Amino acid sequence: MRQWPDDRVAFGGDYNPEQWPRAVWDDDMRLMAAAGVSFVTLGVFSWSWLEPTKGEYEFGWLDEVMDLLHAHGIAVDLATATATPPPWLSAAYPEILPVDREGHTLWPGSRQAWCPSSPLYREFALALTDRMAQRYHDHPALAMWHVSNEYACHNLPCYCDTCAVFFRRWLERRYGTLDALNEAWGTAFWSQRYTAWDDVLPPRITTTFGNPTHELDYHRFGSDTLLDFHVAEKEVIRRHSPDVPVTTNFMTMSGFRLLDYHDWAPHQDVVSTDHYVVDALEHPRAELSFHGDLTRGLAGGAPWMLMEHSTSAVNWQPVNPAKPPRETLLDSLTHVARGADALGFFQWRQSRAGSEKFHSALVPHAGEDSDRFREVCELGAVAGRLGELVGSRVEADVAVLWDYEAQWAVSGPCMPSAALDYPQAAHTVHRLLRDAGVTCDVVHPDTDLSGYRVVVVPTLYLVSDPAAERIAAAAAAGTHVVVTYFSGISDPDDHVRLGGYPGAFRDLLGVRVEELFPLRVGESVALAGGGSGSVWSEDARVRDAEVLDSYADGPLAGRAAVTRRTVGEGAAWYLGTLPDDATLAALLARVTDEAGVAPVADVPAGVEVTRRRSASGSWLFVLNHTDAGCEVAVTGHDLVAGADVGPVTTVAARSAAIVREA
Ligand code: GAL
Repeated sequence: MRQWPDDRVAFGGDYNPEQWPRAVWDDDMRLMAAAGVSFVTLGVFSWSWLEPTKGEYEFGWLDEVMDLLHAHGIAVDLATATATPPPWLSAAYPEILPVDREGHTLWPGSRQAWCPSSPLYREFALALTDRMAQRYHDHPALAMWHVSNEYACHNLPCYCDTCAVFFRRWLERRYGTLDALNEAWGTAFWSQRYTAWDDVLPPRITTTFGNPTHELDYHRFGSDTLLDFHVAEKEVIRRHSPDVPVTTNFMTMSGFRLLDYHDWAPHQDVVSTDHYVVDALEHPRAELSFHGDLTRGLAGGAPWMLMEHSTSAVNWQPVNPAKPPRETLLDSLTHVARGADALGFFQWRQSRAGSEKFHSALVPHAGEDSDRFREVCELGAVAGRLGELVGSRVEADVAVLWDYEAQWAVSGPCMPSAALDYPQAAHTVHRLLRDAGVTCDVVHPDTDLSGYRVVVVPTLYLVSDPAAERIAAAAAAGTHVVVTYFSGISDPDDHVRLGGYPGAFRDLLGVRVEELFPLRVGESVALAGGGSGSVWSEDARVRDAEVLDSYADGPLAGRAAVTRRTVGEGAAWYLGTLPDDATLAALLARVTDEAGVAPVADVPAGVEVTRRRSASGSWLFVLNHTDAGCEVAVTGHDLVAGADVGPVTTVAARSAAIVREA
């Protein structure tokens, strides 16, 4: 077997040779060499080519591709090909098709048209996985297994009758008795009390608002169901191929919230993910950095793989702008700056047919004689020079907490404000700290927080008692804990913690909120300190804290908006609203200053900095997102330019330096 290439930051992408005549494959090998491609992900959507009719397998073409890649020194991340069934499968067994909330069947003709609970689908998928693992486990090109593809992307939640059966089983395991389920779901409300398991349904379309805990459990059930399937596929691979790492590509970008990746991550030999820049976001590059820090958090701080991103436009937005020159280089190196050791793209050669024909690729429609392909070759060459930092880890003194369960709960029906966006507080704090040169780990509330100087708790609406206790203990031990609005409100059953908000953090913060005052979209409230707040406000009564800022107008005029309480060796800071950027940045500067957190380097606005370190050295990443050159005080060897630099280095506009520090 091929070792995963670690003499460089691995560089490559999805390879779909079945879309092309045989002659093109040789051209692919020539161009992959020119671009410095060191790995490809193969076979993701190949099922109908590998098993064109039931039980009849055709591996000849894949054997040939594997051999060809091996002959050209390219490592293969081989897919199980189980992401999308062939048409014959759903034609013969239409019961495998997923069903939406309104009861419509989702028909074949696109991709991922299978019900996550379907035992039949699982049987066919495991049979193919078994064949794949048997055939290729000792192929010399094989370096990694890629199970399925972006689980859940299109087929979760499914509301079919099979899911109903498996949901009941899942609930029986979780609750044991119907009394426990009734208690957890609060079914005394609206005559919802269940007296037989068979009466429980998926949360299908209803007359009006559904039961929030029912919906929350359906999210948990969906994530658990697909994880169970994933583990089953992995076990089949393991039987034949015990030593080759196994991964599946997550979707940690902010719009995706269907799976609880904190449950999934421990099952990955290497955490891998996909990321695409969403044009509609106000701060798309800050979101990119956040996603990298979240993925690193999922990997427990270890390096991770970027399985997919794009060289230029995607094809799934209403308008899909191309990336300006050098943007791809900056995007790719930002992922590396946040801990990625592999840069994969969707896809190698831009399709000429199908729904992704206008999605960019490493080889564009224009062919090799194009600026895009020249840029790809340049990026491949840079990746080739980064081998020395592979395995190193990103340094961070600050943690931002992230919890998919809290996100599910806060996005449930009938909340105080549908405009409350779970990622907003986390993204805003992360962005402002990034702008200040401070790196954050994005981690689950159950993480050991003791090593962090600052822990931010953004809109952690739902929180368990042990997690809340751990957060309070971190403060007592010297951490500065920053809790934002609408945190600590409910328990894991989504029952409100009584006695005043934020129930789980009331004592830690020394404030007690009597009523919530969400702000209307576009509305803001003046703060006495001169700034303003938006999104949210809360009627906080201070019991044992210092008031740092208060509301200057509106129904809460005079009440505390921002407070600080000294706790043991640390402090607990509370934000009842989302302050404007300048006000929040100043507050965060005060927090980090008191906590002794220094920026990674002094750089002008718009320049992003991180540091990776290993036993053999440290590397300073400088990502200049501005249209002007910037100066950074650093001495060492710039791996991007391949030149020695210092004591002051100029990083050109829209460019990057990665300096091995002297
Ligand atoms: C991903 C997927 C790829 C491709 C890409 C386009 O969701 O894994 O197969 O569809 O998006 O952006």
